[in-house]
Amino acid sequence: MYNFEFKNPVKILFGKGKIAKLANELPKDKKILLTYGGGSIFKNGVYDQVKAATKGFDIIEFGGIEANPHYETLMKAVSIVKEEKVDYLLSVGGGSVLDGTKFIAAAALFEGDEPWDICAKRSEVSIQKALPIGAVLTLPATGSEMNGNAVVTRVSTQEKLAFDSPAVMPQFSVLDPEVIFSLPDRQVANGIVDAFIHVMEQYLTFPVNAPLQDRFAEGILHTLIEEGPKVLANRNDYEAAANFMWSATMALNGLIGMGVPQDWGTHMIGHELTAYHGIDHARTLAIVLPGMMDIRRKEKQEKILQYGERIWGISEGTSDERIDQTISKTIAFFESVGIKTTLPDYEVPAETIGRITSRFEERGMKIGEKADIGPKEIQLILEGRL
Ligand code: NZQ
Ligand code: ZN
Repeated sequence: MYNFEFKNPVKILFGKGKIAKLANELPKDKKILLTYGGGSIFKNGVYDQVKAATKGFDIIEFGGIEANPHYETLMKAVSIVKEEKVDYLLSVGGGSVLDGTKFIAAAALFEGDEPWDICAKRSEVSIQKALPIGAVLTLPATGSEMNGNAVVTRVSTQEKLAFDSPAVMPQFSVLDPEVIFSLPDRQVANGIVDAFIHVMEQYLTFPVNAPLQDRFAEGILHTLIEEGPKVLANRNDYEAAANFMWSATMALNGLIGMGVPQDWGTHMIGHELTAYHGIDHARTLAIVLPGMMDIRRKEKQEKILQYGERIWGISEGTSDERIDQTISKTIAFFESVGIKTTLPDYEVPAETIGRITSRFEERGMKIGEKADIGPKEIQLILEGRL
């Protein structure tokens, strides 16, 4: 196992009715900006619960944060934060609202001239300070509620880029599984697959003798496979919703990735598909992962075989046959929750592949657990999904 340092200070308030506890977590002496998305919180009662729980607090609101939050929109919020002297942010929404709120928190205190550098010059700009954030999560998927990552889209340049900093980890996140009851099938499916692939990015690499991390990862995969379809079948199944929600948080709160190699190549390529074609984040991952497994079958062989055997019970045949079956099972699982897995399914033309590989070429960036996946390999991964 590799050396590691792990600290996760996010307080989780989990369960039915927990939104009512907000008053215990929010500061009384600060001006709070409540951020939200396109309005789902008004339809499902979450907004009313938040308002009821925060009577007497000094709160203003900023709505309209899009799915795949736009830099352009977030900068409007940054202006409001400065004008109104906001000093605390409360995100009420899914991963996009929370990621956007993290960006607002960092940009409000950013000292450089160009806030986009927070993402664009991620390796040079290290975010040390940000406004404090609290969160009410309404969509289990990203793990944003318990990590320091955020992904932002700049519409004018069709870029979708990430940044991370411990400074933007929420101080607390409220996870009430009842918020799932109002989610459309599309978002439940996205959440299942996004969380599943977060686990895969931290698991499907090469062995470093870390059996506990492996079994944590496999436990989350099994739970998503068992509980995800129950949520899809019955949106009011509280127990299934709770298990799904906690699985998504555990998939990306840092724990399972400690002391082991991590990949994230599927995400890096997937972000480009969203940037160019607006495809939902999880769907881009479901397209890329099978190609990644196929092209990297040699490098990832031991872990693919372990995953195939422990998750899908595949133990017969040559290594290549078992890997083929494992990829097919993975695709079948994504399709079973309603997520298509090829580029033509989303009407992505072959030319997009060249646009994506040129971007990696320009950035001089290699990805994967050994940083050895470049434009040539990315081309093969995506061509396999045509
Ligand atoms: O905007 P509203 O009206 O709230 O509607 C949203 C949105 O249309 C709706 N929704 C959310 N909660 C709902 C609901 N509808 C009904 N009932 C509810 N309870 O769902 C739609 C999608 O929401 P969004 O926040 O975009 O989804 P998700 O949570 O999947 O977030 C996706 C974003 O997170 C990034 C992705 O790249 C993408 O931009 N990611 C963030 C990560 C992180 N911070 O660690 C890691 C991930 O890999 C991912 O990249
Ligand atoms: Zn993801």
